[in-house]
Amino acid sequence: MSAQLIDGKARAAAIREHIKQQVTERLAQGKRAPGLAVILVGSDPASQVYVSHKRKDCEQVGFVSRAYDLPSDTSQAELLALIDTLNQDNEIDGILVQLPLPAGLNADEILERISPSKDVDGFHPFNIGRLAQRMPLLRPCTPAGIVDLLDTTGEPVRGQHAVIVGASNIVGRPMSLELLLKGCTVTTCHRFTHNLEYFVSQADIVVVAVGKPGLVKGEWIKPGAVVVDVGINRQEDGTLIGDVEFEVAAQRASHITPVPGGVGPMTRAKLLENTLESCNNRD
Ligand code: GUN
Repeated sequence: MSAQLIDGKARAAAIREHIKQQVTERLAQGKRAPGLAVILVGSDPASQVYVSHKRKDCEQVGFVSRAYDLPSDTSQAELLALIDTLNQDNEIDGILVQLPLPAGLNADEILERISPSKDVDGFHPFNIGRLAQRMPLLRPCTPAGIVDLLDTTGEPVRGQHAVIVGASNIVGRPMSLELLLKGCTVTTCHRFTHNLEYFVSQADIVVVAVGKPGLVKGEWIKPGAVVVDVGINRQEDGTLIGDVEFEVAAQRASHITPVPGGVGPMTRAKLLENTLESCNNRD
């Protein structure tokens, strides 16, 4: 391997430490601790793991963590009513509804019901619109975490050709907006893209967020490129791998994120940052 590993785990730990200090300062000033409500509907095993990490992170930095574990037959009206209540709750600065929701619930309507000022996932159309118009407020956590990691590499970002593979609302689309904001030339590839190899092989920065192990072949990577792998795929033996063929890609890239320990911890760190920012805005 010749690439340098981008250590998201270490960077996220440093961010958490900084947040913890800021919470301590708030409390010393007689202000309240930031509060995050995390709503899980149903029992998807991966979601249960992600949510438990988010709640543990909150406790570690001194936030108030409110857990709502709702049955999979929760109705749209019940979920909307809970969000209405939390929107009015003065102890709560952030409301997170873990996705995906069980079939039958309309995620778009639910996410849009969250007050944009408490939308710490950054998924509300208002916050996406602000990002699209170069005036971001609360930013989607995974793309914001990736921008942070790119800055830590010391490699140039402005003017580089960034190729995003995946166009989801959670990662691909807001990632394209973030990198446009950073001055990249952005290409977004998706399921209808012809000849993915052609685009990936042109990229100075590659961000892959699809959820298909081995989708991006190591030989496609341009020598010296920065490779960010958002995929988290559980193999039969229980180990996790990304969407990029890591071993070969790491022979060619200048920097590459590991899976696990790359992007995942940064998503959680940015969620804490957003919650603190929302709390500071509410003082
Ligand atoms: N499911 C997968 N990633 C995310 C995320 O960043 N936020 C929420 N709410 N759900 C997710």
